[in-house]
Amino acid sequence: SARYRIAVIPGDGIGREVVPEGLRCLRRAAETHDFALDVVEFDFASAAYWERHGTMLPGDWQPTLEAFDAIYFGAVGWPAVVPDHVSLWGSLLRFRRVFDQYVNLRPVRLLPGVRGPLAGRAPGDVDFVVVRENTEGEYSSVGGRVFEGTEREIVLQETVMTRHGVDRVLRFAFEYARGREARHLTSATKSNGIAISMPYWDERVEAVGRDYPDVDRDKYHIDALAAHFVLNPDRFDVVVASNLFGDILSDLGPACTGTLGIAPSANINPERRYPSLFEPVHGSAPDIAGRGIANPIGQIWCGAMMLEHLGEPDAAAALLSAVEAVLAGPADALTPDLGGAGTTTQLGTAIAARVGSTTVAVADPPT
Ligand code: NAD
Ligand code: IPM
Ligand code: MN
Repeated sequence: SARYRIAVIPGDGIGREVVPEGLRCLRRAAETHDFALDVVEFDFASAAYWERHGTMLPGDWQPTLEAFDAIYFGAVGWPAVVPDHVSLWGSLLRFRRVFDQYVNLRPVRLLPGVRGPLAGRAPGDVDFVVVRENTEGEYSSVGGRVFEGTEREIVLQETVMTRHGVDRVLRFAFEYARGREARHLTSATKSNGIAISMPYWDERVEAVGRDYPDVDRDKYHIDALAAHFVLNPDRFDVVVASNLFGDILSDLGPACTGTLGIAPSANINPERRYPSLFEPVHGSAPDIAGRGIANPIGQIWCGAMMLEHLGEPDAAAALLSAVEAVLAGPADALTPDLGGAGTTTQLGTAIAARVGSTTVAVADPPT
C-alpha cells in the first residue's frame, strides 16, 4: 500500500494545539484506508526557533522539506517575540515562493450543524472556492523608504503582476471551475481605482477566458464583492483574486459561514515540482492560545485537502464526513466559536472516532 512522507510544522500559538488533532484524524484515516504516513515534525518556522537561533529557518530547510510529499502546517506568527513581517517573510511567504505554490485554494462552505451569521442561509446555499494568487501581486518586496525620519519621508511598495504569474493562476481557476457543476467564475477586480495593475488583471481574465467558453464569467470590484459575499453568497462558485484581495475574501467567506476556525487552505504547486503546503486559513490566535479551546476543524479539513492531493480521495471524503457528522451532532463537543463548551482535544477526538465509520448524507437544503 502507499506510503506518504509528511513534514509537519506546528508553528506558533494555536497551531501547536490544532496540529495534533489534525494528525490524530490523519492517522485514523490511514488506518481505515490502507495507506501509511511517515510523519516528521519540525520546530522551525516558529517564535521559539527564532528566540534560539535568530532566524526562522535553518540553512538547509529547502532540501529538507523538498524530500517530503507534502507539508502539513499550523500557523506562524507571535508578534510579542518577533515582528510579523519578519516571521512571515522568513517562513510561510518564503515557502510559498520558493516552492512555487502559486495557487492558494480556499473552500468556503456552510456546513450542516453550523449556525452562520447570515439570516436564512442553509447548507448548500454557500459553497464556493476562493482561488487566491499566492506568489506575487500586492505581496511584493519591491519598494522602500527614503528620507526616513524626516518630514519628507516617502514609502513605496509596488504591486507586481507578471503575464506568467497572472495567466497561470487564472488558467488554474478556469480549469477548476470547469470541473464543477456550476461552471461559474467570478473575478475580483478594482480596475476603477487601481488603474494600472487591475485593468491588466481584467484583460488577462478576458484573454484566458477565451479558452473557456463553457465557463460563465463575471467580475465585481472588490468592495462590491465583499458586500455580495454577505448579502448573496449563493451567487458564487469559483472566485479568483489577486494575492491581497484573495487574502481578505478568504477570511470574510468563512466568517459568513460561522467561524474562521473551520476554514482550510491548500498552497499548491500544480506542476508537483515542489511539495504543496496545507494550513488552515486562520493564524496563531494569540488571544485564545494556551486555553485549549481553538477549533481544530480548519486543520482537520486541511488534512482532507492534503489526502485529496496525495491521491487518497476516499480517505479525504471520510475525513470530511466525520467532520460533518460531529458538527450535526450534540453541540457540547463543539468548541466555543461553534457555540459549544468543548475543548480542542474533545472535538478532535470526536471527529477522529468517526473517521471511516460514518457516511452521512448531507441534507438537501430546504426549498
Ligand atoms: P488569527 O486568524 O490568528 O485570529 C483572528 C481571530 O479569529 C481571533 O479572534 C482568533 O481567536 C479567532 N480564531 C482564529 N482561529 C481560530 C480557531 N481555530 N478557533 C477559534 N477561533 C479562532 O488572526 P490575527 O489575530 O490577525 O493573527 C495572529 C497571528 O497569526 C499574527 O502573528 C498573524 O501574522 C499570524 N497569522 C498567521 C497565519 C498563517 O500562518 N497562515 C494566518 C493568519 C495570521
Ligand atoms: C494567510 C495569512 C498570511 C497571508 C499572513 C500571515 C502573511 O493571513 O495565509 O491568509 O496574508 O497570506
Ligand atoms: Mn489571511
